[in-house]
Amino acid sequence: MRTYELQSSSGPDGWKIVERETPTGDALKEREALIRVHAVSLNYRDLALSRNPRQQMPIIPLSDGAGEVIAVGGGVSHVAVGDRVAANFFPVWQDGPMRGEYHASALGGGSDGMLTEYKILPESALVKLPDNLSYEEAATLPCAALTAWNCLFEQGNLQAGQTVLLLGTGGVSVFGLQFAKMAGAKVILTSSSDAKREKARQMGADETVNYKTTPDWDREVWNLTGKRGVDHVLEVGGAGTLEKSLASTTYSGHIALTGVLTGFEARTNPWLITGRSLHVNGVYVGSVAMFERMLAAMTQNQIRPVIDRVFPFEQAPDGLRYLQSGSHFGKIVITL
Ligand SMILES: NC(=O)c1ccc[n+]([C@@H]2O[C@H](COP(=O)([O-])OP(=O)(O)OC[C@H]3O[C@@H](n4cnc5c(N)ncnc54)[C@H](OP(=O)(O)O)[C@@H]3O)[C@@H](O)[C@H]2O)c1
Repeated sequence: MRTYELQSSSGPDGWKIVERETPTGDALKEREALIRVHAVSLNYRDLALSRNPRQQMPIIPLSDGAGEVIAVGGGVSHVAVGDRVAANFFPVWQDGPMRGEYHASALGGGSDGMLTEYKILPESALVKLPDNLSYEEAATLPCAALTAWNCLFEQGNLQAGQTVLLLGTGGVSVFGLQFAKMAGAKVILTSSSDAKREKARQMGADETVNYKTTPDWDREVWNLTGKRGVDHVLEVGGAGTLEKSLASTTYSGHIALTGVLTGFEARTNPWLITGRSLHVNGVYVGSVAMFERMLAAMTQNQIRPVIDRVFPFEQAPDGLRYLQSGSHFGKIVITL
């Protein structure tokens, strides 16, 4: 089979196509399934790992993929040959809170990922896809969508009428926009691009702010909320945005820390958290049980992922370069 390996920490150039032995049904252990991968999607994480000299190599990149079950091992009861499935980001995180032992299973980081023609996974890592989602659409869900879902609903308990602040228009934030509107929330979204702000408005964003031309965007957010602040922030920026996100949040509001787009080391005034009694929590993707709840909500509300561009398998590094350019709105997909 053809598969990609990350072979050096040189960004997209480090992704190389290699031949590996094609797994067959005979290779399956108890409760495993063999998947023919049809589509995968890219996340900022994949770019970060491709540049990280501490990342173990060679490794098959990407956490997110969807495909068809083509063989099952003994004792498999949850999936059957012919089922359309996606794999959870952490194959071993079934339910309950995040635990340290899940880290090593993270696809495309701790263990081999989905940018490969065939993949063996435990059946417990798989969620069955609703008929209305294509493989390309389903491949966008495991990391970005589940993270946004976990932040807003599992951790945030988002209620109709509350206000959500979203940063930028990448994968996580665009799912955040769709989920927040689904829940009847008001959305304030920041972007560096006026064209992307307009797209977000067309998707239901109530207010948008250009964070490049309005560097003090937190003040603008404050004013847009009538000097009350937002109830929730889906914080994907990290070091460079955290203090402004805190300053944008109302008393007893909630900030879900997920991202590091602007780096890791921040100087933050802790009184912003204490004085306003903010709830700040880290979110690292989510469990299989959360994935299933999210799929149920998406099906009920007919939510379809926003795919910016689709690249063929052979041009996967170009897809990663496109993500690196920051030109995208929503998700980038690779088909096999
Ligand atoms: N903890 C988790 O479980 C988890 C899961 C998924 C992602 N993440 C993290 O979340 C972040 C976003 O991931 P992603 O895959 O959604 O990224 P992405 O699709 O590559 O999104 C990039 C977008 O972020 C926006 N952005 C960049 N710098 C910004 C800034 N200073 N302020 C506001 N927006 C900014 C830009 O939007 P505009 O072009 O509109 O300006 C850019 O296009 C990453 O740091 C990723 O590692 C964490």
